Amino acid sequence: MREEIISKVLFDEESINRRVAELGEEITHYYQEQGVNQIVVIGILHGAVIFLSDLVRKISLDLQLDFMRVSSYGDSAISSGQVIITKDIETDIKGKHVLIVEDIIDTGNTLRQLTQMLYSREPASIRLCAFLDKEERRTTNMNTDFCGYVIPDEFVVGYGLDYAGKYRQLPFVGVLNRWVYEK
Ligand code: IMP
Ligand code: MG
Repeated sequence: MREEIISKVLFDEESINRRVAELGEEITHYYQEQGVNQIVVIGILHGAVIFLSDLVRKISLDLQLDFMRVSSYGDSAISSGQVIITKDIETDIKGKHVLIVEDIIDTGNTLRQLTQMLYSREPASIRLCAFLDKEERRTTNMNTDFCGYVIPDEFVVGYGLDYAGKYRQLPFVGVLNRWVYEK
């Protein structure tokens, strides 16, 4: 499968493992320095599940896991569309320290609307962690607090990221060959 659909491997399994371990330490230290020992980690389905499952095993804090699913409503080609919650968390986050975990931040529209919705539930704090960041594509003032890698504006798959629901299980991150989506 790799030879056919991937034009370039950006991060292999070994590099990802190292980077995710570093991120886990970074997150642990960040909260410990503020005297926070308990957090709620919210994974955004489906893209974040693989990253999240590796990441939480590298975080040395008490944590609760929960998941959300959101989708962009309206014209799917316009990423500034309205974001709606299609699966909500079951945790009451009032007064709690929340860490949102996403696969990738692109325009920032999804995370901007999501954090706005979650702030109305009065958590003690919300921090954002994205595995990948397409910084140059940003159209909002959203930024991550923790990020695995900044990447160029290319369509990538693997390690949770999909194209049309496929390729999430690839253990590396690769650029999708153009013919896959242009055919
Ligand atoms: P945003 O709202 O524009 O920041 O979009 C973020 C969402 O776009 C992510 O959660 C992904 O689902 C999707 N996305 C953006 N770029 C890629 C990519 O290169 N590969 C796979 N999904 C992507
Ligand atoms: Mg996604």
